[in-house]
Amino acid sequence: MKLDIPYLIANLTLEEKAGLCSGADFWHTKAVERLGLPAIMVSDGPHGLRKQDDQGDHVGINDSIKAVCFPAGSAMASSYDRDLISRVGSLLGEEARAEGVHTLLGPAINIKRSPLCGRNFEYLSEDPYLAGELSASYVAAVQAANVGVSVKHYAANNQEFRRMSVDTLVDERTLREIYLKAFETTVRKSKPWTIMCAYNKINGTYCCENKWLLTDTLRDEWGFDGIVMTDWGAMNERVDALKAGLDLEMPSSNGLNDKKIVAAVEAGELPLEVLDRAVQDLLVWFERGLAEEPAIASFDKEAHHEASRKAAAQCAVLLKNEGDLLPLDKNSKIAFIGPFAGAPRFQGGGSSHINCFKITSALDACSQENIEVTYSAGISDDGITADDELLKAAIEQAKSAEVAVVFAGLPDSFESEGYDRSHMDMPQAQNQLISAIAAVQPNIVVVLHKGSPVAMPWLNEVSAVLDMYLGGQAVGAATVDILFGEANPSGKLAETYPLRLEDTPCYLQFPGDGKSVTYGEGVFVGYRWYDSRKMEVLYPFGYGLSYTSFSISELKLTTDTLEEGGSVEVSVNVTNTGKRPGAEVVQFYIAPPAKLTKIRPVHELKGFEKVYLEVGETKTVKIKLDVDSFSYWSSEQGKWFAAPGVYTIEVGNSSRDITCSTAIELKTPAAPFRYSASTTFGDLMDAGMNDIIDQLKQGMASTLGGGENPSEGASEGVVNSQMMQEMMAGMPIHALASFTSIPEDSFNGLINMLKQRSAE
Ligand code: BGC
Repeated sequence: MKLDIPYLIANLTLEEKAGLCSGADFWHTKAVERLGLPAIMVSDGPHGLRKQDDQGDHVGINDSIKAVCFPAGSAMASSYDRDLISRVGSLLGEEARAEGVHTLLGPAINIKRSPLCGRNFEYLSEDPYLAGELSASYVAAVQAANVGVSVKHYAANNQEFRRMSVDTLVDERTLREIYLKAFETTVRKSKPWTIMCAYNKINGTYCCENKWLLTDTLRDEWGFDGIVMTDWGAMNERVDALKAGLDLEMPSSNGLNDKKIVAAVEAGELPLEVLDRAVQDLLVWFERGLAEEPAIASFDKEAHHEASRKAAAQCAVLLKNEGDLLPLDKNSKIAFIGPFAGAPRFQGGGSSHINCFKITSALDACSQENIEVTYSAGISDDGITADDELLKAAIEQAKSAEVAVVFAGLPDSFESEGYDRSHMDMPQAQNQLISAIAAVQPNIVVVLHKGSPVAMPWLNEVSAVLDMYLGGQAVGAATVDILFGEANPSGKLAETYPLRLEDTPCYLQFPGDGKSVTYGEGVFVGYRWYDSRKMEVLYPFGYGLSYTSFSISELKLTTDTLEEGGSVEVSVNVTNTGKRPGAEVVQFYIAPPAKLTKIRPVHELKGFEKVYLEVGETKTVKIKLDVDSFSYWSSEQGKWFAAPGVYTIEVGNSSRDITCSTAIELKTPAAPFRYSASTTFGDLMDAGMNDIIDQLKQGMASTLGGGENPSEGASEGVVNSQMMQEMMAGMPIHALASFTSIPEDSFNGLINMLKQRSAE
């Protein structure tokens, strides 16, 4: 349906325009019937449709229509598979069309700063490159179905504690490199129709009122041409927000803020053009989803359930498989233990909670496929409380079986939207159950259902650990597919599993004091922290096993030098060296030059490809890296900057398993020299100002009594020339007068010359 936007802008009253800037109810915008403008509907969420017909809520309390729950973001990201996430996006787009939903509220792409964030199960990764690539694929696929998305929560909303008011104190470089990057990638690559602004403040200003965030960066720099809506209830000052670039307030303020807009326009405090711009953008957004072709009448729920099953299998991460215990033989005597075997935990709580039309547990799947297993709960059904009788029965069953599979993880109350975890432990009853079974049965597999890392005190006691994350409503079937080898695990961790909570980068500064939270660890989030500090971890970023094995070799570059604006093709051969077909995720990291004055992580993910290989097959994986891939955000220059120097391209299958690497030199321009009161000799050396350094050396030599080299006057052995050089590097130019007898004229001349050469 085409809207006559100029006509509408000319004919809508001021009150109607203000009214369009907030919702009519929980999920709808306002219609303007006299002008033929329909209301449109939005619904959560990222991994399933939470369409509510009657009573709306944003915390998952009231029912929504029956739908299909796909794997949650934490699981989907472990697939490292752009095609898979696109397929799920298309199916969700189809469901939304069939249900008359105009825009889906997702993907949720906030960075996992701490493993404790209650909403990490919904988020993708600790790495902004991975999160950005997957989010861009998802958005493109949903929107190809002519359904909008709302990429959320923009920005720096990395905890649930006081999420509606906390002030995130974070420097610009950290924001740009870590917390905004995935949003930037999504906006640039896939042009989302809407962005959802987060509840919190950033450096003192609520996101909804943050012009730098919503207009200068999002629209002017990245070219975003959609609308920004608030998270539900994230509005602070309505008029300021409109001026900052916030178009739609959701759900609404019952007319309160609409009136404020009208009053501000009438008082001349809010230019009408600002309101018109928002209305114009809103109308464009409405029109985008009002498709010409009829909506899809219905969708095949069973087919989507099947797709959810396949997706869950591709997301699963095999953490341990000693003695190749997995896959299991269907004919062996197998005991399934733990309540999650019959009632899996497959989604998180809150606004993403789906009312599933069907759930397949591992026990259901076994009975459907005639696989014989015995079952005992081992603990009570809540997954939290120990029960001696149940434990005894489980031990007996494990003893008489050949293999025990314990289904464990986090019960609903342990992680959810709305609050954070305070520890990484599973319920103690579950840990005790695993240890008790391990004591009687050496062949023990632990299947995990949870949305974030957990401590595994029993890890050395078990042979295999299969991490299903929160795999959606068909997770039981997918688990059985993997346990018995119908599917070969190929997921990789999209986040590091730390050994201890105390090791996590923001341990001392999470979740802040209730008023603010300081991101003091800067860009050192996730593996950027653990790898730079060479810390031992439980499982590294990018890690995951397979039932087959792979080799990665023959790393080649099309060039070993890069100039400004250039790019390089990186290729590598991957071979399936094992006995089963399977997929490997080839990961490309870039390590900065060893001597770089800027503090940078030891390496960062800049490319990945998932490649499926038959037994013995080799494929060449190619990616393109351009100069931007080597850059960091230079706060001094106010832009991305790729410093010249020799970098290393590393290729492997986890951040700790780099199998080949090679050097590449960037011949990019050096950072412009800027003179200031803290400019040192070292800065002059870095900027290549050799003529000035020579002059200075001569001046110093005459004072220190030596020749050409300033150290020559010093007695070797106490202060040698290397030491002198190092000390000099840190000396500010203004201190020259204190240590040399440089004549006043020469000193002033030198300073003037440096000022002249200084960039603006
Ligand atoms: C959540 C959003 C969600 C919205 C609507 C909020 O509480 O933070 O992610 O889209 O509710 O349910």
